[in-house]
Amino acid sequence: MSKVSGCLEGVSFLGPKSENASWLRSEFDRVLDQWFDWRRALFSEDPSPIPESIRLTPDFLAGQDMLSQKVRELSDMMTGEVPKYTPRYIGHMVSELSVPALLGHFVTLLHNPNNTSRDVARVSGRVEDEAISMLAGMIGFDPARAQGHFTSGGTIANFESVWRARYRMDHSLALGLCIAEKTGEPFDPVSFAHLGWEAHTALAATHNITDAELREASGVLGNPFRIAARITRASGREWNGPVLLVPGNKHFSWQKAANVFGLGEEAFWTIGLDRNGRLSLASLREAIERAFAAGRPVLAVVTVAGTTEAGEIDPVDGVCDVLDAWRDAGRDIWHHVDAAWGGFLCSMLGGDAGRVLSEHAGRALKAIRRANSVTLDPHKLGYVPYACGAFLVRDQASYANSTFAAPYIDRSAPNDRWMMTLEGSRSGSGAAAVWLTGKTLTFGPQGFGDIMAGTLDSRAYFEQALVSGCRLVRILEPADSNILCFSLAKQGEGLAASNARTRRVFEAFVGDPEFSVSRTELSVANYGALIDSHLDRYGGQADCQSLVLIRCVFMNPFWRNSQVRSALMPRFLDRLEIHMN
Ligand SMILES: Cc1ncc(COP(=O)(O)O)c(C=O)c1O
Repeated sequence: MSKVSGCLEGVSFLGPKSENASWLRSEFDRVLDQWFDWRRALFSEDPSPIPESIRLTPDFLAGQDMLSQKVRELSDMMTGEVPKYTPRYIGHMVSELSVPALLGHFVTLLHNPNNTSRDVARVSGRVEDEAISMLAGMIGFDPARAQGHFTSGGTIANFESVWRARYRMDHSLALGLCIAEKTGEPFDPVSFAHLGWEAHTALAATHNITDAELREASGVLGNPFRIAARITRASGREWNGPVLLVPGNKHFSWQKAANVFGLGEEAFWTIGLDRNGRLSLASLREAIERAFAAGRPVLAVVTVAGTTEAGEIDPVDGVCDVLDAWRDAGRDIWHHVDAAWGGFLCSMLGGDAGRVLSEHAGRALKAIRRANSVTLDPHKLGYVPYACGAFLVRDQASYANSTFAAPYIDRSAPNDRWMMTLEGSRSGSGAAAVWLTGKTLTFGPQGFGDIMAGTLDSRAYFEQALVSGCRLVRILEPADSNILCFSLAKQGEGLAASNARTRRVFEAFVGDPEFSVSRTELSVANYGALIDSHLDRYGGQADCQSLVLIRCVFMNPFWRNSQVRSALMPRFLDRLEIHMN
């Protein structure tokens, strides 16, 4: 798709007034017609089990009637849903779906492929390969080397990274244990856990360690308690297991992942945040050194590109530099970027669209290509229907994780993913929605990136109008992406009073059908430095332990439209004024 009269959004979305309804209807009709014809033409000689003589009986017609009524009942019920398509919805990370994504999803839904295996998804599996390549290209991975798959969302994509990290570390520890027990040399779990694949393979060959021996020394495949006792014995130091380093601005899926994969809460180490609410590099350096000094390997370092709360982007480039220095020192530490929110912002890089990014955000997004693995969430800023996340690794050599077998599935098909995915059955619809988006809009700065740039520009416009329209508005800074958070505080006021006001105004918005916003609460324990810098801007007092914020997510593509802006902005300011009084 190219820009039409300067409005890429216009052809990419149905529109809040269903402006593209007749075009979209004709596309849906064409897809349905082809689906009907396909069924009629294939095996046309087979008998029809539903001949006209049955279809015209009163019972049959009554059954159809009843179903039609229930369909209407359901679709009537759904008109009571939260209207997320309208620019008035700036609540959570959901908005209008794009036309390519809707059509890609719909076409595939009719064929219902299960991407778990090419046995049942011979076309859709290929579509997934191509869609993963497109996403890899968007974030700067080499599509020829990268690998990945679609998941049901960001949570499961994050789980995929911990799942693999656990296997990866287990393999290395098993190797180290085997060598130590064979040679009688002392075992250093930290060095072995961070060998990296190349050194791992070389050492396994040098010491002639067989697969059977490795399995026997594996804490994942064998008894973890017995293996831990063996590591303690071989290393001469109590073995307390690895730690996972995750910044304090994380999504709660990381705690779930640690829990599911058997890491105790004690092994879930929080990296501190700086005055921008981003991962602190000093805190990261300190945590890695502390872990190694305690004889504990680092399962992975996680950074967040687009935090759930405020859209902040961690210094991914700085983290890569820290980890490169450790790699040069012989310690290879896995780096996963949770870009569930911000990953699609990479489509702006390398063109005009990227100009709306701050220097920090541009640098950090560009560095995602240096990380080992990434979470993306097409069902957020990709405008794809639920449920669609994605997990990608930079190098396919580290994509595989286990050797589980399912004898009833054909293993001969190349690139089959069923052994590699945490989930079993996986719908092909999300992959197809991404594929059609990439084929039409393209994931570059002229296409998708331009839409992303519009969302950042809308946030900036909203901030300016909000600040000049209401003197109590205190914007949470900096703005790394397209989420805007603000509190409502008087000059010099204490947090307790401003929190009460912000909370009250939010509650009033909840009861007001005109606009949907969301609310978040940052704790001083986690976001102390960011809260201090927020208070410094208006002389506020830290007299309680959290900061309450109204949160507005600028995802809707039509906030870019000048008529939408001039109609909705004054309206929002009116509602804000009413709710404050
Ligand atoms: C940064 C981040 N990671 C992970 C997730 C989890 O994604 P999902 O809700 O698709 O499981 C979210 C969801 O908001 C998120 O913002």
